[in-house]
Amino acid sequence: MLLFALVLKVTWILAAEGGPHGQDHWPSSYPECGGDAQSPIDIQTAGVIFDPDLPAVQPRGYDQPGTEPLDLHNNGHTVQLSLPPTLHLGGLPRKYTAAQLHLHWGQKGSQEGSEHQIDSEATAAELHVVHYDSESYGSLTEAAQKPQGLAVLGVLIEVGETENPAYDHILSHLHKIRHKDQKTSVPPFSVRELFPQQLEQFFRYNGSLTTPPCYQSVLWTVFNRRAQVSMGQLEKLQGALFSTEEGPPEALVQNYRAPQPLNQRAIFASFSQVGSLYTTGEMLGLGVGILAGCLCLLLAVYFIARKIRKKRLGNRKSVVFTSARAATEA
Ligand SMILES: *[C@@H]1O[C@H](CO)[C@@H](O)[C@H](O)[C@H]1NC(C)=O
Repeated sequence: MLLFALVLKVTWILAAEGGPHGQDHWPSSYPECGGDAQSPIDIQTAGVIFDPDLPAVQPRGYDQPGTEPLDLHNNGHTVQLSLPPTLHLGGLPRKYTAAQLHLHWGQKGSQEGSEHQIDSEATAAELHVVHYDSESYGSLTEAAQKPQGLAVLGVLIEVGETENPAYDHILSHLHKIRHKDQKTSVPPFSVRELFPQQLEQFFRYNGSLTTPPCYQSVLWTVFNRRAQVSMGQLEKLQGALFSTEEGPPEALVQNYRAPQPLNQRAIFASFSQVGSLYTTGEMLGLGVGILAGCLCLLLAVYFIARKIRKKRLGNRKSVVFTSARAATEA
């Protein structure tokens, strides 16, 4: 039984990393995949640099999706949604225009499928919104190999209690594009709703595309807050697609790359209480709560101590009295 489990595990690892098409072999066909500024990374929050001058990321036009339907495509590696050029980003060194978004996820039944990790913790899935520097370049293809030619927003997705209706704008169409190279169009929707509500806390670093050819041209923004989908929605994502066109169907699962070495790179954070799960308001509330708690405890200790002291004094008096009486009576 143990041997069986071991064999299963080994073949799984081989399929995931060591097989002829596995990610360990990417550098032999795509040299840049072996570079020293690759993505994703494991963001160790103890080592990030707080940069108070990092401007907030401003998604512009994201909540006005226009009237044109959007292309949804199973490309064999992921599900990808084309985005109109009316969507762009403020708060970065240049104007970056949106091109597409796609998802990464894990095995069926697994809650580890994100590419980025925070303090070695992966989440169930990850959303990437890909933009290119449209001030300097005419297209995504032209910008893709230039330093900071691309800007990608990364949103970690975890399983929560309730359905996330925004993600259904994508998930409810997957059954029409189950096989590789199938396409459909979906009605426009507010892409902003796919993000967590708060975008103030994020990490910023220089990295790469996470699939071949792994160009090291991406200015990454990974949000600290997570988006949530229901378990049912995650299962839909993990179970709907095939990576094959025809013939024996192969499930499109586990399409995430392992974290890459940070090497000499710096990771900046837009916020200082890194590692904390709380916002400033929540921290303030927590602080006041703890202070009040301490005060109550102090008062309680004071009154108890006073009571004990009184009792001791009383006892001592009565002891002296009784022993004195005992002495005279003897
Ligand atoms: C990314 O690299 C460029 C060029 O080396 C540098 O100017 C910039 O500060 C780096 N940005 C980050 C976030 O590390």
